[in-house]
Amino acid sequence: MEEKKTILTGIRPTGNLHLGHYFGAVGNWVKSQETYNEFIEVADVQALTDNFNNPDKVRKNVRELTLDLLACGIDPTKAKIFIQSMIPEIAELTVYYSNLVTVSRLERNPTIKTEISQKKALFGNDGESVTYGFLGYPVSQTADITALGGTLVPVGDDQLPLLEQAREIVRKFNSIYGETLQEPEHLLSSIPRLKGLDGNEKMGKSLGNAIFLVDDDETVTKKVMDAKTDPDKIKKDDPANPDVCMVHYYHKLVTKDLDTITSECKAGARGCVACKKELAANLINFLKPIKEKRRYYEQNPQEVDKILLDGTREAKQKAEETMSKVKKAIKINYFE
Ligand code: TRP
Repeated sequence: MEEKKTILTGIRPTGNLHLGHYFGAVGNWVKSQETYNEFIEVADVQALTDNFNNPDKVRKNVRELTLDLLACGIDPTKAKIFIQSMIPEIAELTVYYSNLVTVSRLERNPTIKTEISQKKALFGNDGESVTYGFLGYPVSQTADITALGGTLVPVGDDQLPLLEQAREIVRKFNSIYGETLQEPEHLLSSIPRLKGLDGNEKMGKSLGNAIFLVDDDETVTKKVMDAKTDPDKIKKDDPANPDVCMVHYYHKLVTKDLDTITSECKAGARGCVACKKELAANLINFLKPIKEKRRYYEQNPQEVDKILLDGTREAKQKAEETMSKVKKAIKINYFE
């Protein structure tokens, strides 16, 4: 029998998950756990590259993120959730990989480039906000992926340059030290990036347009009532264009009888307020089982501990195997 391919993905524990995470990523991981050998990394070390001065935030969100992942339907008997910092082999690999990439190549990485300009805009143009650890996080991410033997990496298009960087490092490693590591591949997401209710191209915590999975019903309703609709529709019974309406865009995700909504909207037979109320109700309904599952795990913290410890133990075993191959390839396996 052909061995199952391994998926490795990761997420920084810096806040609660929102609908953008669900539809753009985690929902896919729930599906792929059925057919792949799946590891999900709680990337606390990577989170610390930006939050080194706020360890409490990272610590708290390791739990919050795990609860959110389980609530979404990640099944610990199928997918393994693990904590990055508990696998020292990842840090160790990062050291060796860091010789295989130049500083200027890292600075040219489009993801890093964007993040550096964001940092400079926030903290000043002198580059003093760009740490060695931050610049090196693509190297550390390469270690995440290869330590676990992750051949498939499901990431959004904003992360593609990081994957390309990983592939380059792997190729360089293999060309110098001999065929040791497998080149990771991108696993295409079936759902494109989720837009914000405000019409922004992206839903994000820092953009202030996110609906969190833990939002209560009132908060969800309030956020939906503020959504962007067709600006040319002035009166309740004006016909409108659903293609430019964020309420319609979200109806597509959670509403069953979409055709009725679309034709009523186009015919001017549907007011925006009523349409928003209906969307809010459907979103609340969609979130209900997720919240119920979350509540179960909140009430069973020992079970969550065990899930993390078991997942981490399994991931560590894999990482140890990789580390031993890597040490042998670099000829630093002195007493073997
Ligand atoms: N960079 C990802 C993020 O910002 C998190 C991450 C860490 C990751 N390690 C990974 C993603 C490995 C894919 C593979 O959310």
